[in-house]
Amino acid sequence: MLLRLFFISLSTLVFSTFAASGVFAQSSDEDAHLAIENPADLPKEEALRIYESLQKRMARGYGGAQLDLLLNYQDWPLFNDAPYISATHGQRYVNSYANRMAHNYGTLQEGEKLPMGSVLAKDSVTVTDEGNIHPGALFVMEKLAEGANPETGDWRYIMVMPDGSLFGDTMGFRAPAVAYCHDCHEAVADRDYTFFVPEEYIVGN
Ligand code: HEC
Repeated sequence: MLLRLFFISLSTLVFSTFAASGVFAQSSDEDAHLAIENPADLPKEEALRIYESLQKRMARGYGGAQLDLLLNYQDWPLFNDAPYISATHGQRYVNSYANRMAHNYGTLQEGEKLPMGSVLAKDSVTVTDEGNIHPGALFVMEKLAEGANPETGDWRYIMVMPDGSLFGDTMGFRAPAVAYCHDCHEAVADRDYTFFVPEEYIVGN
């Protein structure tokens, strides 16, 4: 628990440093992944209601990227009981889905790995204090074959914009634009580079 808190504070720090240094300012769409400054603080029920009102539209939007690995991701097991604010993904409300291949995502013990073919998908919604609500980016991790990309622990990172355009893919299009993903996820190398869900949002807690 303490360890996880440490990692999250550490990541927040790393993120702020990146943000301050303008690493994230390369996007043409300003809202792409700059942290929003005034996220609304919502009770779980309200966050859920907002997400449910948008989720079909979001699936259609991301679908424009035509990535087979994301097909029907909203039908995969969901590991959080309500959308939660992710300081490290632009202060947006996010969800954590994992496909069936990633069967041990929720129970991973130190040193264990997820199998090849595991896909983790984190969709996001922006909700500001002023009541602006709109879909955000989709953050994706795919576990590649062993040895496919040792520098990133064999993970591929992809970011898809709400309109289905590809922001970047570490194994292809604009790879340098998403290299920062692994730089941060490296903090949890002992959990196969996954952070999992904040304690109070874990399904069943
Ligand atoms: C500054 C740190 C940081 C950066 C940069 C970052 N992440 Fe994350 N990521 C986290 C943390 C912390 C979590 C878990 C808690 C949360 O959702 O905020 C997470 C969770 C995830 C998850 C769910 C799997 C897991 O780790 O449990 C995916 C998928 C993901 N991130 C993808 C990405 C992608 C793709 C990028 C780059 C476009 C990215 N992340 C950039 C810190 C980061």
